[in-house]
Amino acid sequence: MDRVVLKSIWPVIILVAAPWPSEVLGLNNGLALTPPMGWLHWERFMCQTDCKPNPVNCVSEQLFMQMADMMVSNGWLKAGYKYLCIDDCWMSIHRDENNKLQADSIRFPGGIKKLADYVHARGLLLGIYQDVGKQTCAGYPGSQGFYELDAQTFADWGVDLLKFDGCNYGTLDQLEDGYRRMSLALNRTGRNIVYSCEWPFYARHLTKVNYSEVAQYCNLWRNFDDIEDSWTSVKYVIDFTSALQDELVPVAGPGAWNDPDMLVIGNFGLSWDQQITQMALWSIMAAPLLMSNDLRDISPESKALLQNQEVIAINQDSLGVQGYRVLKVDSFELWEKPLSGRSLAVSVTNRKEIGGARFFQLSQSLLWKGLACKNKCYLTQLLPTRYEYGYFNATCSLPLLVNPSGTVLLKLE
Ligand SMILES: *[C@@H]1O[C@H](CO)[C@@H](O)[C@H](O)[C@H]1NC(C)=O
Ligand SMILES: *[C@@H]1O[C@H](CO)[C@@H](O)[C@H](O)[C@H]1NC(C)=O
Repeated sequence: MDRVVLKSIWPVIILVAAPWPSEVLGLNNGLALTPPMGWLHWERFMCQTDCKPNPVNCVSEQLFMQMADMMVSNGWLKAGYKYLCIDDCWMSIHRDENNKLQADSIRFPGGIKKLADYVHARGLLLGIYQDVGKQTCAGYPGSQGFYELDAQTFADWGVDLLKFDGCNYGTLDQLEDGYRRMSLALNRTGRNIVYSCEWPFYARHLTKVNYSEVAQYCNLWRNFDDIEDSWTSVKYVIDFTSALQDELVPVAGPGAWNDPDMLVIGNFGLSWDQQITQMALWSIMAAPLLMSNDLRDISPESKALLQNQEVIAINQDSLGVQGYRVLKVDSFELWEKPLSGRSLAVSVTNRKEIGGARFFQLSQSLLWKGLACKNKCYLTQLLPTRYEYGYFNATCSLPLLVNPSGTVLLKLE
């Protein structure tokens, strides 16, 4: 409890006007004050450990060095994506003679320290993966029994973010205790390490999750299954989040974020409209923006969408309020996210997957009453294309044409 402080002043404003009173009591390490942005290997590259048949795509230091180069040379770092994150399958199957973790010596011949140096030299930060249990999900040595040692090892290597999975945890007590202990162990190293948990995802099958507590120990946390490269998967995550929004929204804020998992934009499974929906909703949800795609081979359209500065600004807004679903009607979903300066981001998704584009009538009466621009808001459409509507009067109704499974994203200020 002594680690807890009120992290920001915004609840004072929001308590008056937002539908959820805030409880923001995040992990007090000064990190992730806006949702972390970067790249994570899992969804696209998974656990490909045999480099012989597929040297270009196996999980190896070469893959991460190439991604680091791409992040710098192709504008990703400049757009805000700064964490280059390793997921499962980087380790040797054995700890060393001192019980220390070690990277697979064939795929990471230079070790993690060298990779961290490479990444840092380019202005990026390095994320790594471990598991609270006896083994990782893919069967590599887990941290159970070694929390302090592993935290120190990561700090010594120069790691900047830890994704801590929850496979093979044992009992609920061991799971929860493990997540707390790793948080304290990371803190004791003295190094700034963002702590990404999967505590609620594993615990929710067994108990009612105390999100205030999770937020005290973790900077971000997963609530739901791994995302896949499909519209079905993206829809599930969106629906899961809105179904639980009364629980999830109040606990998000600077330093503490619900993590709906990776952006799969730029891969194979989403249509253009669905890519727009993922980008718009992840921004509205104040989600960590961790892409999993191949930055060496990505279409210019997907790249431009992922690097859209105005959309990223909604996600990164300093107020740190997680957006929420306001309305579900006639297979449309209306979401909003209060922004600093009492402006607002609004999205309308067409969830009818038959037929063509349909009109949704947007009126200000549907939206957040805390808007500063009461009767005259300047309205800009950011997605699917940029368009300035100009002033939007409180009595107006604006017809928005939305494609099936697509989204229109707007900003009112
Ligand atoms: C460790 O926790 C203390 C108390 O909450 C905090 O002031 C400090 O910044 C933390 N240090 C690190 C490195 O996370
Ligand atoms: C949830 O955790 C917080 C912080 O640790 C604690 O103050 C609160 O009593 C817990 N709530 C429940 C219902 O256990």
